[in-house]
This record gives sequence, structure tokens and C-alpha cells, in this order.
Amino acid sequence: MEQTEVVVPKNLDELIAILHKIFESDCINVEEVQQIMESYESNPQDWKKFAKFDQFRYTRNLVDEGNGKFNLIILCWGEGHGSSIHDHTDSHCFMKLLQGQQGEMVQKSQRILMENKVAYINDSIGLHRVENGSHTEPAVSLHLYSPPFQACQTFDQRTGHKNTVKMTFWSKFGERTPFVTASQENN
Ligand code: SIN
Repeated sequence: MEQTEVVVPKNLDELIAILHKIFESDCINVEEVQQIMESYESNPQDWKKFAKFDQFRYTRNLVDEGNGKFNLIILCWGEGHGSSIHDHTDSHCFMKLLQGQQGEMVQKSQRILMENKVAYINDSIGLHRVENGSHTEPAVSLHLYSPPFQACQTFDQRTGHKNTVKMTFWSKFGERTPFVTASQENN
């Protein structure tokens, strides 16, 4: 029987190169993306130049634009930081925890994501929010969105009121982006 070779990325650059190959196809194999992202063993040396924190809210730091097929983003969560309840604009979302421990709330369920594990979500699975439940340790996560999206809907938990929010980047390719007002971000 023919064996398919499992490639294990040795660093973040290799992971990005493999993702570019996978996304050459227009058909996304969710398990394949999940498996390759999970097989990359997080090494802060690879990603520390993208990991920029803010004192008050989580930051979104663009790492790679995936030839227009996906955005790869590093999110930095200070102690207790979390996102609002939101959708993902019909995009596939893969989220890998690079450092820390994180909770994800999907509608009525809740899951705890451990280091190196990859969670997958799309809008048919549910609205959700993510939180760094730790009040002593920061957390860093790697998100892949395909196709990339520029805005999402956030929802007020109490009233259900919906808001369109523009997605912004705290930094791009390791460089801080010009200042944006807090109201433009999903937190
Ligand atoms: C999330 O909570 O799913 C992350 C949201 C974002 O990309 O800003």
C-alpha cells in the first residue's frame, strides 16, 4: 500500500512554505491543515519578532498573506484579555496555541486549548469568543483565516445587538502599523 509522507515543519518558515503549497489548491482539506499546523512545535525564537503586546487589549499581528488565499496572524493576549462574541465572515479559522493556555467559548460549549493544539471553527459551527483565562500569564496564538476577511460581525451578549467591525493589524511583518482607534477592533 502506498504511504503518504508526513512532512513535519522544523520552524515557522517551513510551516508557511507548506501552507502555501497546500493552499495552491482551491479545495481545503480541513484535517490536512489542522494536522500540519499541529505538527509544528512552537519555538518562540521563530515568532517572537511578531509577538507584540498591548497593555489593554489583545493584538493582531500579520505574519503572512498566503498569496491572497489565507492570512496567517499571531494574536497576543495579555492576562485576562479576550475577544468579543463574533463570527468569521464565512471563513475557515484554524487557531493554534503557541504559548499559554486559552479558553474558547463556542455558543453554549467551552473548550480549553493547550499549547501546540489546533482548534478549527467556521460560522456553521458557531459564534464564539476567545479568552486568555490566565490572570498571571500572557498567551500567544497563531490563526489562519481562509479566505482572508476585512470585517466581521460582533454581538452584544445581553441585547444581541450586532455591529460590523473592521479587522485591523497591530503590526504587519514585524513592523508596528500606524495607530488605529480602539473602536475599530474586535475587543
Ligand atoms: C478570535 O477570537 O477568534 C480571534 C479574533 C480575531 O481574529 O481578532
